[in-house]
Amino acid sequence: MSEAVIRRIGKIKGLIQVPGDKSISHRVALLSLLCTGQIEARGFADGEDCAQSLAAVRALGGTAETDGDIVRLTPPPGGIPSPLASIDCGNSGTTMRLLTGLLAGAGVTAGLIGDASLTRRPMLRIAEPLRQMNASVEVSPEGTAPIQIRPGNILPLDYTLPVASAQVKSALLLAGLASGCQTVVREKVPTRDHTERLIKHFGGDLTIDDITADIIPDPDDPRRKKRVLPTDRYKRSITLAPRQSLSGAIVDIPGDISTAAFFIAAALMIRGSQLIIKQVGLNPTRLGFVNLLKVMDANIVIKNRTVRSGEPVGDIEVTYSQLKPRKISGESVAGLIDELPILAVLASGIQGTTIVRDAGELRHKESDRITAVVHNLRAMGVKVGEFPDGYAVEGCDELNGAEIDSFGDHRIAMAFAVAGAAAHGRTVITGSEAVAVSCPRFLEMLEGLRS
Ligand code: S3P
Repeated sequence: MSEAVIRRIGKIKGLIQVPGDKSISHRVALLSLLCTGQIEARGFADGEDCAQSLAAVRALGGTAETDGDIVRLTPPPGGIPSPLASIDCGNSGTTMRLLTGLLAGAGVTAGLIGDASLTRRPMLRIAEPLRQMNASVEVSPEGTAPIQIRPGNILPLDYTLPVASAQVKSALLLAGLASGCQTVVREKVPTRDHTERLIKHFGGDLTIDDITADIIPDPDDPRRKKRVLPTDRYKRSITLAPRQSLSGAIVDIPGDISTAAFFIAAALMIRGSQLIIKQVGLNPTRLGFVNLLKVMDANIVIKNRTVRSGEPVGDIEVTYSQLKPRKISGESVAGLIDELPILAVLASGIQGTTIVRDAGELRHKESDRITAVVHNLRAMGVKVGEFPDGYAVEGCDELNGAEIDSFGDHRIAMAFAVAGAAAHGRTVITGSEAVAVSCPRFLEMLEGLRS
């Protein structure tokens, strides 16, 4: 395990570009198994996580040739074979969940394994709906990996997601694509929609119905119509047509907004900072953090907006700001779930109490992220309350440098590298190598912004 020493940064200044979006890169890699022809992915994420998806493509007979941040992918010549050995998904939940759907739909025999962290994460959430499609997907008695897939006679599916999860949604859409069966997935809370956008980009037939409100007559005044927001009903349905073929194409992958979030937070926390992050993905399903920060009075300006390969992109300019605390709960949590560790760090510098609830999903990520942020913030002298589904952080004048545990989790390591840069004294992060999962050069990039 490696240790990183983080020194205080007085001010951040500069212009950076973050690695390509991890969620999009995984999907491009895995969809290449189902496309005819070649995909050229530009700006492919360089972290270990997406390398697991590329290794999986190769293990399944596809090719994945890298040339800097360009990856050229071709499908296996005679369709997807049953791999000889189990596919190792490493630390990557996205690889494991999406690939399970794809392979179950493809009707092959395959085993999927992962590292200790991935082996603790819940897999019944994909196994159960896939079994409703008549797929044979076995998990451990604890509902975790290893996963064993066997050929089944796949049937169409109409499924309402019980948890807001883009990975589950995508696993089902990939099962539908691979099997050629019509698949309808309904979401009560809309989640990131990169799979849907890529299927369309590769020429697939997919219909999306957004139902954000019902219009019904007002019983008190029948001439007037009243908008009623559904509470427990689905709000978005995605229908994938049966039997379709996708064709490979060029895909421009934008910078990962979830990696940009750590640099945005650093600039907002450290007095006098100013930062531009170029060509970041601005997909509305991923903007929860930026939108929240604006409500909290952050000085964030988005410039040079454009659309590339079906995804909105732009430059983000951030200037140090004094933020106001907020309570975050309910449906808005799904749109910023990956940003909640860095939000906790940011909250330590905001006067007042920042509260996050309804975020129990944080306990099922690469680590138990509620335990991890509470433990590490307390080590830095912050008053933090822990809830089963969230945290409450009381802002303080200054963070104390401390011994930090990454819990083997890339987002915990990056969040506390930012905390260390804002703290006085020296911070040592044990297990700092975890940053390589999504941004291998994170610590050098942060240090490079010192002005
Ligand atoms: C992801 C979806 C989210 C997110 C993860 C990446 C994806 O997970 O936390 O980092 O690429 O679909 P869930 O689907 O479990 O919410």
